[in-house]
Amino acid sequence: MKPVEIAKGIFWVGVIDWNIRDFHGYSTYDGSTYNAYLIMDEKITLIDTVKKEFAEELIHNISQIVDPEKIDIIISNHTEMDHSGGLEKVMRKIGEDKPLYCSKMGHQNLSRHFRQNWNYQPVGDGEELSIGERNLSFLETKMLHWPDSMFTYLKEEKILFSSDAFGQHFAGLERFDDQVEQIIMPHAKKYFANILLLYAPLIIKLVDKITKMGLELKMICPDHGIIWRKDPGGIINAYVDWATQTPKKKAVVIFDTMWHSTEKMAYAIVDALGQEGVETKPMHTRTWHRSDIITEVLDAGAIIIGSPTLNNGLFPTISDFLTYMKGLKPKNKVAAAFGSYGWSGEAVKLINKELEEMKFELIDSGLKVQYVPDDKALEMCTQLGRKIGQAL
Ligand code: FEO
Repeated sequence: MKPVEIAKGIFWVGVIDWNIRDFHGYSTYDGSTYNAYLIMDEKITLIDTVKKEFAEELIHNISQIVDPEKIDIIISNHTEMDHSGGLEKVMRKIGEDKPLYCSKMGHQNLSRHFRQNWNYQPVGDGEELSIGERNLSFLETKMLHWPDSMFTYLKEEKILFSSDAFGQHFAGLERFDDQVEQIIMPHAKKYFANILLLYAPLIIKLVDKITKMGLELKMICPDHGIIWRKDPGGIINAYVDWATQTPKKKAVVIFDTMWHSTEKMAYAIVDALGQEGVETKPMHTRTWHRSDIITEVLDAGAIIIGSPTLNNGLFPTISDFLTYMKGLKPKNKVAAAFGSYGWSGEAVKLINKELEEMKFELIDSGLKVQYVPDDKALEMCTQLGRKIGQAL
């Protein structure tokens, strides 16, 4: 890739991962990028690296601007391997004695990952670093989404290098929000739902802190996807909205089925919700990836889960999704369970237990139907759908 000058003397030198489709269990249908940034000043500064297998490409990109050995400073905003995997190769190239700035927790994490005695320069919240004509300040963002995470702010140009925050898994030749317009927001939302939802309360606090600091933002440069330069405030507002989790009049009916009986129930519930004016759709867990389902869950007011009973338990894909959703701790939902069974019928009870543990408000004790639902059973599904719709 050719580097892209994002502001005078500041370059995107990252790489595009066109082919990745699974990012530790997150479906990345549109690939991703690993963004790294080079600031040409008296002290040439590299912010973040890339995945290990792309390290040579990163070095090549830097070489188109400057001999990598001339880099004076490297900053690691976050230890996760998609941003620091290339560090060993980069450090060997630029010189292993070069100062490596990171958070205090970053120091610990990088040391544990690499077992290298690099020239670590741990920095705290609010610390500043002059690199010549420009000054950087560091902002601790613990648990967004790792304990080591931090932002780096370039004061003169008002550019925030935000690590994973505000990122999107999206591979393209476009580097800026104004080049892709609205198609990027679903990617940003999916990223939030899958990576940051658990930390929603911290995001609200962070935005509050940035506002109180009066930090002006002309550009937000995340470590994945496009850079926000046209409307950096837009993505911050979207983050506040997603983090607040105000429920919409929207229901997601998530189900699996063995012989179409639980599926029939799901469709009857969806029809009834639609009749109540609720935005809804059925999501079969072997059709939809868990990371797409959780994206729909993010702003939904109702979550309805259906599972057949298999071997006295839940259908495995439903267990998988419940585990995933529970970890991300979505809030402000009403919920209900349903499912068909042959002879024991434990699934509804097991789903209810999970939904209660997630602190969702159960608005019905659940609906279980033996074998194929007949007209009467389908009418009960309709009633359940209406009841949920009226609760929203
Ligand atoms: Fe993109 Fe948390 O790594």
